[in-house]
Amino acid sequence: MAILFKKSYRFAFRSALYITITITLILISFAWLKDALDWWLIALSSLLTYVICFFVIQLRVEKFIYKRIKKIYDDVSLLESSSLSSRTVTTDMSSLTNEIEKFAKDKKIEIETLKVREEYRRDFIGNVSHELKTPLFTVQGYILTLLDGAANDKVIRKKYLQRANKGVERLIYIVKDLDLITKLETGDLNLEVSTFNIVELVQSVFDLLEMKAAKKKIALTFDMRYNSPIMVNGDKEKIQQVITNLLVNSIKYGEQNGTTEVSIENLVKNRVIVRVTDNGEGIAKNHIPRLFERFYRVDRSGSRQEGGSGLGLSIVKHIIEAHNEKIYVESVVDVGSEFSFTLEKAQEKVEDVAVES
Ligand SMILES: Nc1ncnc2c1ncn2[C@@H]1O[C@H](COP(=O)(O)OP(=O)(O)O)[C@@H](O)[C@H]1O
Ligand SMILES: [Mg+2]
Repeated sequence: MAILFKKSYRFAFRSALYITITITLILISFAWLKDALDWWLIALSSLLTYVICFFVIQLRVEKFIYKRIKKIYDDVSLLESSSLSSRTVTTDMSSLTNEIEKFAKDKKIEIETLKVREEYRRDFIGNVSHELKTPLFTVQGYILTLLDGAANDKVIRKKYLQRANKGVERLIYIVKDLDLITKLETGDLNLEVSTFNIVELVQSVFDLLEMKAAKKKIALTFDMRYNSPIMVNGDKEKIQQVITNLLVNSIKYGEQNGTTEVSIENLVKNRVIVRVTDNGEGIAKNHIPRLFERFYRVDRSGSRQEGGSGLGLSIVKHIIEAHNEKIYVESVVDVGSEFSFTLEKAQEKVEDVAVES
């Protein structure tokens, strides 16, 4: 308390003291000159002068500082002006400093976030135009060749039109991926959660990709026979997209005559883990942390011929994270890769539980 008093009132205390001393000295000299020196009167007037000076100075200073600090608070309008009380203002310098520091820190974080977002935006647009340029130029190349006279040859005409169509298909494929990823990233995509049989879903993706896999003589199989259904909760369509992307990758980056195996295991009581394992080219360790970034490809030139947009895995990650689930990857170069993700198991039916107990 004594320290507090000293700190906050020292200015008024001292100023009042100086004024009182000066006035008392003046009074004494006047009284002495007039030959009417009354020590009691002088003591009383000194005391009064001191008290009055002290309060006037203290109040004026408080008001003065308060006004200016209030202006600072108002200027940096995000500071809570209400936390400023006029009475504590002269003693409350440290809380003001704290608040201003916090304000500055918040602003810094905000600016940094904006910078990151700006960089991301620039990157994204750069990548998009780059991705679109390649197939567009391919298509244009074939069309120009056709216009230049190749159209007259029936065989070449058909071949070039087919190739141009391939380019257009690739454009559509990239735009679809872009559309999906934009929706995922802006959080526009609501999950339509339902209960479905994951074994059946994997089987249907196997069927869809059969032709693609056959071209590279890659076998798509389960690790064992799943006789009974495994019911999980999730957005069926999105999970199908996840499985498709992982399987397409395993075919794309798999070896000729290779195998892609899918297993579904119980992880903990209410979770399953779905693993997609291939014996393909594998991924070097240094690439793994960046694998799920959009547009990231291990071999930029090589995989472009395979026709990917580099968005497949980032779409997978977004979907899994939207389900509040996890995705893992393990890979050894020239041995193979394993991508796995977790899913929530559906509650067993009441009848089953009743039978068990
Ligand atoms: N099963 C896999 N085996 C080896 N490499 C893979 C596998 N899956 C993904 N990759 C690597 O990860 C990169 C990113 O994959 P993805 O996001 O699906 O993009 P894309 O397939 O369009 O290139 C691929 O370019 C590839 O290098
Ligand atoms: Mg892919």
